[in-house]
Amino acid sequence: MSEAFVHRPVLGREVVEFLTSVPAGTVIDATVGGGGHAGLLLDARPDLRVIGIDRDEAAIAASTVALARFGDRVRLVRAGFSEIADIAVIAKTTEISDHQGDIVGVLFDLGVSSPQLDRAERGFSYWSDAPLDMRMDARQDLTAAEVVNTYTEAELATVIAELGEERFARRVAAEIVRRRPLETTGDLVDAIKVGIPAAARRRGGHPARRTFQAIRMEVNRELPSLREGLDDSVHLLTPGGRVLVLAYHSLEDRIVKHRFADWSGTAPAPSTARRLPPAPQPAPLVRLLTRKPVRPGEAELVSNPRSSSVRLRAVERLA
Ligand SMILES: C[S@@+](CC[C@H](N)C(=O)[O-])C[C@H]1O[C@@H](n2cnc3c(N)ncnc32)[C@H](O)[C@@H]1O
Repeated sequence: MSEAFVHRPVLGREVVEFLTSVPAGTVIDATVGGGGHAGLLLDARPDLRVIGIDRDEAAIAASTVALARFGDRVRLVRAGFSEIADIAVIAKTTEISDHQGDIVGVLFDLGVSSPQLDRAERGFSYWSDAPLDMRMDARQDLTAAEVVNTYTEAELATVIAELGEERFARRVAAEIVRRRPLETTGDLVDAIKVGIPAAARRRGGHPARRTFQAIRMEVNRELPSLREGLDDSVHLLTPGGRVLVLAYHSLEDRIVKHRFADWSGTAPAPSTARRLPPAPQPAPLVRLLTRKPVRPGEAELVSNPRSSSVRLRAVERLA
């Protein structure tokens, strides 16, 4: 991996274990990042190939170097994973032997990578002063500056409340609007600090954490992309193939949990009027492999603090 892009794969052993029993074929790593998980998997399973997707140019550059030793077992594509259905066609067009075109796994390791957070100029971090950017894909128009400077106060409050789960969202939104135009992450941190009452500021980590998360998720359409990518992924899989998702906060994990319950037929049936017979349930698409999400062990929590909030869920496609 290039020195500038160091991201330690979270739950690496568990991810590989979940994919050891899949048939030979192609795994789509929908968030290839620095190629950490992809490299572990390609080492563990010589009969697998990987299509790696990432919308961040720096991630594609880093994984190109990190995965070069696997030659034509790897294809990397700079795109959003909401385009996964179109990208999966690559597996068929570059088929080498009979089964290599089968999609036998899809991995989503959500959120930001360590280098995205660590490089101040990307504007993701509240620890340094940088332009308000926060785009994972620098080709898109919407930036954090545009969100904070052009959304109405009500829109901002909704974003900060819903995506950041910030109790003081309305006060923070009002303070942002009062100080416009904001130019840097430092300007945004200052507005948030004034918006949050002093007593609350002293609790629960950095006061800007929740608002930064919210604006980042809005800029990158993280939840809509997740819904789109997930919904397509299950239909790409061959029987016995698996979808794995590593989610880092409750909003993402809730989406994954509900989708997996729907696909596996384990979601509670919607209440119907008493005399009506229950609506017929569609045949399950998958079986759940994780009734409860997998969490990191003590050793990983100590050695890689970024793993602390992760939840891994997995399903297997039925015939
Ligand atoms: C946590 S990192 C993945 C790290 C990777 N598993 C590894 O071991 O190196 C998440 C990556 O997903 C990418 N990403 C996030 N949302 C995406 C999306 N909707 N489409 C494509 N890539 C996305 C980010 O740019 C980032 O590089």
